[in-house]
Amino acid sequence: MAVLIDGKKISKEIKEELKEEVKCLKEEGKNICLAVVQVGEDPASTVYVNNKKKACAYIGIESQSYELLASTTEEELVDLVKRLNDSPEVNGILVQLPLPKHINEDRIIQAISPEKDVDGFHPESVGRLWIGEKGFLSCTPAGIIQLLKRSGISIEGKECVIVGRSNIVGKPMAALLLRENGTVTVAHSRTKELQKITKRADILIVAIGKRQFITSEYIKEGAVVIDVGMHRDAQNRLCGDVDFADVEPKASAITPVPGGVGPMTIAMLMNNCVETARR
Ligand code: GUN
Repeated sequence: MAVLIDGKKISKEIKEELKEEVKCLKEEGKNICLAVVQVGEDPASTVYVNNKKKACAYIGIESQSYELLASTTEEELVDLVKRLNDSPEVNGILVQLPLPKHINEDRIIQAISPEKDVDGFHPESVGRLWIGEKGFLSCTPAGIIQLLKRSGISIEGKECVIVGRSNIVGKPMAALLLRENGTVTVAHSRTKELQKITKRADILIVAIGKRQFITSEYIKEGAVVIDVGMHRDAQNRLCGDVDFADVEPKASAITPVPGGVGPMTIAMLMNNCVETARR
């Protein structure tokens, strides 16, 4: 039986720590405010955005909501981001992705001031991460590092295999594991003999966006398995990129879906918001 890595519990611990810290910062007269921007009404995005605003309220961070029509132009969105950059009341800016097709996401991400880039998506934040300078870390990979550390799983010297190479998860995950002295391989949709590579992993991070794709044949006995996926199965229950029932008996530790990586992303966003006031 694998140890279940409880993201709900660990994220709660982090949020409690942050709540205390925010209380102290307020006593020093430091208020924290996150601007949350959503364009259009994608239902999944609405759920994520509401959860982020709820977490802010819980921790004692103010949030400002900007709900824009799907027909908003790129120029209008850039103008809003610039106003938020210049607003002394706003510490962090979050533009929920994906954006409608007619808006260039890269341009919007680059319009956000790196000082307020609490998602860690700006090229300056990404560059700082790769050269080992202080900067905002992408929330999901930073949350995975916390899950491992707070579960007593060491990364140093371990074979770490990431499946998936997105800008939001796979690539920053590689940088963070490298910074923790892991030996890192990034596999992806064009990788040949994927099983041969994933079977090397002491720590396997799966972010491929394919429902229950990773079965026990992809796993080395005793591996730590982290599942970033989020899907619905045939019975409409939430499930991940990993076939949990098949993989769990072979793993030494594994994250469930839901209740694994998901809650950590928001906890780390809150940490980045608090970081704006620590500086
Ligand atoms: N869409 C999916 N994940 C994220 C995230 O971490 N931040 C933002 N802004 N949008 C997302």
